[in-house]
Amino acid sequence: MEARIELLSADSPLIDTVIGWHWHEWSNKNDDADLVVWRARLCSRTNHDRVPFTLIGHLGTEPVGCVSVTDDDVDDRFADRGPRLSGMLVIGPARNLGVGRALLRATEVRARAIGATELWLHTGEAEQFYERCDWSYLVRKEHVGDDAVMRREL
Ligand SMILES: CC(C)(COP(=O)(O)OP(=O)(O)OC[C@H]1O[C@@H](n2cnc3c(N)ncnc32)[C@H](O)[C@@H]1OP(=O)(O)O)[C@@H](O)C(=O)NCCC(=O)NCCS
Repeated sequence: MEARIELLSADSPLIDTVIGWHWHEWSNKNDDADLVVWRARLCSRTNHDRVPFTLIGHLGTEPVGCVSVTDDDVDDRFADRGPRLSGMLVIGPARNLGVGRALLRATEVRARAIGATELWLHTGEAEQFYERCDWSYLVRKEHVGDDAVMRREL
């Protein structure tokens, strides 16, 4: 089954769904996790014609994954680079079915359409996934616990 991708809107009931996924996946790895802050940040990432925006992946009628493109750089080393990819997640039962790849492709197409020439991201554990989807390294991991930094030319 092919994933269907749609833009997230600030008034969508899927805001709470996505926050639930993010909380489940990342809250215990994040010392200052705050549900209210995370929700407000996601709502601010719901533009339809510019960065920041968020895409939702569906299999059939079920929402199963998400990704945002943001301009709030969290790493000064890459402040002059293109928008940053953030919050990429596919729920457990839907993994390895091509949803992540479909979300990345749709993100790349949309980002290019609104003028971006590249995307970049930090990843702690998923660099092989991004490699499989044709992203390359800006910074490789050197130590356990490091993030890799990766980019994709559009
Ligand atoms: C990483 C993640 C988004 C991948 O989504 P997915 O829908 O399972 O990925 P796909 O099915 O589209 O996989 C695309 C390709 O990447 C490969 N791949 C997927 N996850 C992988 C992983 N963890 N390690 C290595 N390769 C991986 C697949 O085998 C596939 O390769 P192929 O098509 O060449 O055979 C998903 O596993 C996830 O949400 N993980 C937890 C959260 C996370 O780590 N997010 C990234 C934050 S930077």
